[in-house]
Order: sequence, then structure tokens, then C-alpha cells
Amino acid sequence: MSNEPVEPAALRGPVVRPRRLRTTPALRRMVAETQVAPRQLVLPLFVREGISEPQPISSMPGVVQHTRSSLLAAVAEAAELGLGGVMLFGIPETRDATGSGGVDPAGILNLAITDVVGEVGDALTVMSDLCLDEFTDHGHCGLLTPDGRVDNDRTLAAYAEMARAQAHAGVDMVGPSGMMDGQVAVVREALDAAEHTDVSILAYSAKYASAFYGPFREAVDSCLEGDRRTYQQDPANAVEGVREALLDVAEGADLVMVKPALAYLDVLRRVRDAVDVPVAAYNISGEYAMVEAAAANGWIDREPAILETLGSIHRAGADVILTYWAAEAARLLRA
Ligand code: PBG
Repeated sequence: MSNEPVEPAALRGPVVRPRRLRTTPALRRMVAETQVAPRQLVLPLFVREGISEPQPISSMPGVVQHTRSSLLAAVAEAAELGLGGVMLFGIPETRDATGSGGVDPAGILNLAITDVVGEVGDALTVMSDLCLDEFTDHGHCGLLTPDGRVDNDRTLAAYAEMARAQAHAGVDMVGPSGMMDGQVAVVREALDAAEHTDVSILAYSAKYASAFYGPFREAVDSCLEGDRRTYQQDPANAVEGVREALLDVAEGADLVMVKPALAYLDVLRRVRDAVDVPVAAYNISGEYAMVEAAAANGWIDREPAILETLGSIHRAGADVILTYWAAEAARLLRA
């Protein structure tokens, strides 16, 4: 036995060093746990009736309301970049109490679906928003009762008709986003009865009454009176988000979605762990605008912020991400 004092561990340094795996870019790349891919990204696109030039959306720099023809150039580029799909939103010239423009085969969204499918064929999954808010003159996602409440069951009948119109126009996947109870079951039944058994459903399952939708309302020239708190979820609730997702799976949803994404990453993780279908997340307009505004002021580094945002949503459990950065992110991820 030597009488030499043993050097304390603190002076020898730690044996376990997590930093060792961060030494070089090659090593970091090799051990990266997650990586979002362009095939998982879906680009939301707005098409507006009756315009001859694309219109910028001031609260969403870089995003426009497309004409029917500029929309085709955008989807062709999306296909070229290897994106997973596009989600189409229509902005009609006129609106009414029942949102009849959403059901009309000659309505802007239904025409755009046919145009887009004709342009890209099977190269992209063509998805459409299945909701009345862009088409109603009061801006709500459903039909109103005489005393101004959103009438769940009458709205379901309108959604069934809208689903049939979109399927007839050629859509691959419909996205019921109105948060009416029973909407997925009704849409599935309507599609199947019209022999559109292959049209799939991306259910907006856990959709919260969020302050971050603000720029979207400008994007679709929304005329919403009041708020959506009687149908969209309370931001305080996470268990309820899982409940909504499980219900939608039971009603036949092919994918379920959590929306918004960033303020709800916990809900996203819980839903991912609870269901056995692919899970999507919508990185919404206000989340986009925050990054763009901070970057425009020189307060954050834009491109790494975009990739970190999308990476975090993927890491939290999203298999598919709807994002206004889809095309740009695909380019960055390829570089
Ligand atoms: C409803 C719908 C909304 C969004 C997508 N679908 C708006 C809302 O619920 O008020 C928001 C998307 C975004 O903010 O990027 N049809």
C-alpha cells in the first residue's frame, strides 16, 4: 500500500464526457437522433378568386394569396422539391351565411383542387381544408342557429356535402378543421357512400383556440365575429387533446393533427404516444410571423431558427409538419 495521496476525481476530470460526441461536425451528424425530411413537409397554399396577380400577405412576409395560375407554379415547385404535399385554402369573392361557396363544384377551392391534381398528378399528396370559415359571411367554421351559436349537427351535414365536392374535384386527402363533434365519422361516411373510399382524412383533432392564428385571418380575409372558444379547445387542456385524437382515430381518421405546434409540443408528444396512426402538426401563421418578424429586425438568425423550429416539432413527435417554410426548408435540408 502506497502512502501516495490519491488525486481526487474532480482534479482528474470526469470519466464520462458527453461533449466527446460533439467534437466534430461529422460526429455530430452521425449521432443525430432525429432529422426532419422534405417528404414530411406539407406546404399550405392560399388561392383567391377573382385576382389577376398574386397578393402579398403583410403579416406573413413571403406568403401570398395565389391566383389560379400562380398556384400551379407553386405546386410544381413543391413537387420538384420533394415535399410531402400541399394543403389548399380557398378565398371566395362572395360569402354567405351557409358558406355555399365551399360546396359549389365551381367554388374556388374545388376548382383549385382539380387544377392542382391536373398539374402534379401523384407527385404530391393534394390536401384541402374542409371547413366553412373561409366561405361564411360571419367567419365561423359552421352554420349558426338563429341566436348566433354554432350548430354542430347542421354543420356536419354541410361538411359531408363539402367532402363529397372535394373528393369529386379529385383531392387525395381532406382536412376537416372545424372542430365539430363527430365530423370525422360524418366525412368518412359521406366519402364512402360516394365511392371515394381511397380519399383519406387528416383530422384536425387537437385544435386550440389560439391567439397565434392572427396572420391567417389576414391571409383569408376573415370576417370572424367573436371567437371560436365554443368549438376550438381551451389552451389549458392537454388530456382533452388526447381524448379528441383518440375519438378521431375511432371515427376513422387516417392521420391526426395537433395545432398550433410550438405552444403545444407537450400535447403533440402525448398524442404521438397514444395513437397508432401518423401524427401531423401545424406550424401556424403566428409561429411563422414571430420568426419572420424577429429575423427582419436582425434579432435572430433566420435559417437556423427555421430548421430548429421544424426540428423541435419533429422531435416532439410529428411525423408530418404543415409549414409555410416547407419549400425553403426543403432547400436548406438538401444543401
Ligand atoms: C380554419 C383554419 C384556421 C387555420 C387553418 N384552418 C384558422 C382558424 O381556426 O381560425 C389557421 C392556420 C394558421 O394560422 O396558419 N379553416
